[in-house]
Amino acid sequence: MAYYVDPDIAATGRVFPMQGRAAYRRFDMNENPSGLPEAFVSKVLKEITPEFLATYPEPDRFLNAYAAFLGVPRECVTACNGSDMAIRYVFETFGEHGKDVVTVSPTFEMYWVECCILGLNHVPVPYDNDLTISVEKILSAITKDTRIVVLTNPNNPVGNVYEEADVRRIIEKADSVNAVVMIDEAYHYFYERSLIDTALSYDNVLVLRTFSKLFSLAALRLGTVIGDPKLIHFVNNGKLTFDVNSVALLFAERVIEEPGLLEALIESEKEGKRYFVETLRTSGYEVSESSANFVFVRTKGDALTVARRLQEEEKILVHPYQNPLLRPFIRVSTGSKADMAAFLDAFFKIERSEEA
Ligand SMILES: Cc1ncc(COP(=O)(O)O)c(C=O)c1O
Repeated sequence: MAYYVDPDIAATGRVFPMQGRAAYRRFDMNENPSGLPEAFVSKVLKEITPEFLATYPEPDRFLNAYAAFLGVPRECVTACNGSDMAIRYVFETFGEHGKDVVTVSPTFEMYWVECCILGLNHVPVPYDNDLTISVEKILSAITKDTRIVVLTNPNNPVGNVYEEADVRRIIEKADSVNAVVMIDEAYHYFYERSLIDTALSYDNVLVLRTFSKLFSLAALRLGTVIGDPKLIHFVNNGKLTFDVNSVALLFAERVIEEPGLLEALIESEKEGKRYFVETLRTSGYEVSESSANFVFVRTKGDALTVARRLQEEEKILVHPYQNPLLRPFIRVSTGSKADMAAFLDAFFKIERSEEA
């Protein structure tokens, strides 16, 4: 092989999500299993004309509406092709080759993937065996070599959240070594206490949001970054010119302005999660407290086997784990009560036959 390949990219091992998921009921990636109301989707689709598709995207109209929706100044916000891409931009912009990115472990796997791709040194701070995370351990992982600290609030996959006082201690320690803190709020609205106001009171803190979870637009790829205008300026400098497509911008604008839509989505998910957790607990299951749209269920049968049989026999996808700490559990995304009832029927059937 004579050509040059970036050594960090060459050394990165990737596992891409399975294909053909439309044929399954999807409880594995924390999407909304059923999606937005069909009438709303049809109404917005009518706005997409040949001319609309022929024209390059212009994010400003959405960004103005979104900043007003959040109640923050326009210059504190930018949009990216999914928060996946936002993570890449933030790492490219504020990371330094060979220097540290501190995250908890386990967390959303793209954090370590992006570290590998960009040659950043990933410093994972492990959870304790009881699935709690020590803020003191996070603080001591932050050193003069740290460039970025990531807090996912609530964390995926564990579902825990951070106290604001602890977040401030982490931000201030990061600030003392000139590091940037990125707070990933992918699961905001399932957990309502946002840290955007806290973030905006510092000049080294960014918040990430996504339209893939509560807003049910994972297919369109839209994530946002919120923070001090100088930080946002640097993120914008590193971006592709037409990073976010016009269909995503249109749907996102219509979702945030549609009266009652967000409230209905939140209520439906809360009702489904309550029903799901109560039914499992009544049936003697250990179910984690989670502040997001997913829960950990300790299966009675072997978790990997239960997940495989749900997929093969019931056409249902869940997330099992090889990681020893999480190995006894499956992670199940939550949705409406009807979605969760369909899941439970299949789940109990498999569990009963594993016990027999
Ligand atoms: C914590 C967290 N951040 C970011 C993402 C990526 O979301 P997006 O679809 O916006 O790329 C996910 C997706 O599961 C996530 O769990």
